[in-house]
Amino acid sequence: MLLLLALSPVQAARAEDGYALWLRYAPLKGEALARLRTFAPRVEAAPGTVEGPMLAVAEAELKRGLASLGAPAQTKGAIRLDCPRAGGGGDGAFRIHADGKRRLVIAGADHRACLYGAFALLRELALGRDPLAVALDEHPAMPLRMLDHWDNADGSVERGYAGRSIFDWWRLPDHLDRRLIDYARANAAIGIDAVAVNNVNAPAIFLEPRFIARLKRIADAWRPYGIRVFLSARFSAPRDIGGLATADPLDPGVRRWWKAKADEIYAAIPDFGGFLVKANSEGQPGPQDYGRSHADGANMLAAALGPRGTVIWRAFVYSADDDSDRAKQAYAEFVPLDGRFADTVIVQVKNGPVDFQPREPFHPMFGAMPKTRLMFEGQITKEYLGFSTHLAFLAPLWKEALDAGTGRGGTVADAVRGGGMAGVANIGSDRNWTGGHFDQANWYAFGRLAWNPGLTSADIAREWAAQTFGRDAAFLKAVVPMMLGSRQAVVDYMTPLGLAHLMGTNHHYGPAPWVCDLPRPEWNPCYYHRADAGGIGFDRTASGSDALAQYVPSVAAKWRDPKTMDEDVLLWFHHLPWDWRTRSGRSLWAELVHRYDRGVAAVDTMAATWDAQRAHVDAERFADVAGDLRVQQREARWWRDASVAYWQSVNGLPLPEGAAPPA
Ligand code: GCU
Repeated sequence: MLLLLALSPVQAARAEDGYALWLRYAPLKGEALARLRTFAPRVEAAPGTVEGPMLAVAEAELKRGLASLGAPAQTKGAIRLDCPRAGGGGDGAFRIHADGKRRLVIAGADHRACLYGAFALLRELALGRDPLAVALDEHPAMPLRMLDHWDNADGSVERGYAGRSIFDWWRLPDHLDRRLIDYARANAAIGIDAVAVNNVNAPAIFLEPRFIARLKRIADAWRPYGIRVFLSARFSAPRDIGGLATADPLDPGVRRWWKAKADEIYAAIPDFGGFLVKANSEGQPGPQDYGRSHADGANMLAAALGPRGTVIWRAFVYSADDDSDRAKQAYAEFVPLDGRFADTVIVQVKNGPVDFQPREPFHPMFGAMPKTRLMFEGQITKEYLGFSTHLAFLAPLWKEALDAGTGRGGTVADAVRGGGMAGVANIGSDRNWTGGHFDQANWYAFGRLAWNPGLTSADIAREWAAQTFGRDAAFLKAVVPMMLGSRQAVVDYMTPLGLAHLMGTNHHYGPAPWVCDLPRPEWNPCYYHRADAGGIGFDRTASGSDALAQYVPSVAAKWRDPKTMDEDVLLWFHHLPWDWRTRSGRSLWAELVHRYDRGVAAVDTMAATWDAQRAHVDAERFADVAGDLRVQQREARWWRDASVAYWQSVNGLPLPEGAAPPA
């Protein structure tokens, strides 16, 4: 009721259907409200401050957020924005401290600092903190905190499960959807500072003048929110749309074409971020088509952009001719090129060596290219984790990779500090943006981790759930652990013990471990699990593909011995007999079935946990989540039963004692 009184009907409806994301600012209650009322600040710029659109956004957001939280109109205190320089050229480092009894100061070098500081303060207030006790001193851990949209010009989204693309290229540049501003607000609130607007499988039309004009409209709208736009660029564009006979990166005509294209883009968008490139992977054109290396291709584009922008070159490659072990190919192609990439090139590496699986060990390229800027690529959209239907909170997945020690003097997070993190966006035009309400948490978590990979998954889950749903302690106590265990549940019922890539061909939804007849070996699930009457798993030790040798010896040693290693990635590295004794004392077969059952049981517990939250959540969102959890309960059983039945058809073993019967 309070919510309805405090917000206009339109806003209230949007909050309930999930449109407001973490910017809901539901009215405070009790002590937190009393403290805010005592403080009741006006927002003011420090004397002598230069005005600018980014500072105006910071002010407007503070005012809007404070009013929504319940601050009365009469002012007793002040929030002072002390960010002298206009624009957003700095990194956004900010400090927030109380200055006397009635004033809070947000300070930093330029307007970007106040933008991020304003949202950080609102987050603290939305969590119910005492305003005058807020003391923050923060800076981003890495320069690029990016979303990669796999959105196509026709409005479809590759691996998108939240409706159509949010980019309405048809009506742009004349009409800019208001949603794009709300999108920018949500991103600024979590520190996202770069967005690639189109699919990495890119047609060249995005480089044509008609699209540059449209992109300019978006770039202008997002600039006050500190977001720079990037384009996925098709490497063969000089041939496709430039009328040239070649796209060879060493050809002078090709180099001139890209330089002229870059100049044309910068004339329209002076702070254009640069190009994101998928080359020589999955049929995309690239420098290898001309006998040139990834470095030749990336450096040619870097020369075209000059110091104005960045080339982000993806390391996700695998060749059609090498069927030894797909997991080894990126390292094999890229590591020998270390030191050959220009300073303005960043090589973007997926979190694991295969492809965004529910669980993979970290990619061996992290730490292995000390003379190259690297970037971490995670997938926010859940291509292999049940789309937007299954609830899986992904912060623990990314943390597992980011916190991993590379054995080369730091963690994976340390290895990307000079580059950044890019997340494949899960955003579409669905009313709640992401398809499932809890998928919003993955967008949120990705931004928060790119800002500070040291945050814990629990902290991120708690702050997201409190801002998005409610601050009630009992609610958070139930829902935060539910979120934290959700990804492991998916691992357990889909790909336990280090299995991977067992999903149905192309769409990647649902089990298909039996598929083995596709023309390229690595398209087949059987390539990954290698199950036969004798055992299961992919031998990546010296007796197999030896992918293990791509890790430094101290890291490889942890995974070499199946008796002592972390069993969560056991079958990623080893092919073992079905009667292999696992550390639980169970046979491998019994342990596998135990984990499938554990995953199904975990989803049942999640559904029961959610069911008990009816009193804490508005009816619409409660029902949406409850409905999706019912699907997940059914499909966890589908995954378990289909997988177990298939393994039985291979190993001829009965169900282990105590295993749940098929549903
Ligand atoms: C996966 C995904 C593709 C995508 C590719 C990529 O293979 O299924 O849709 O294009 O990753 O990251 O380039």
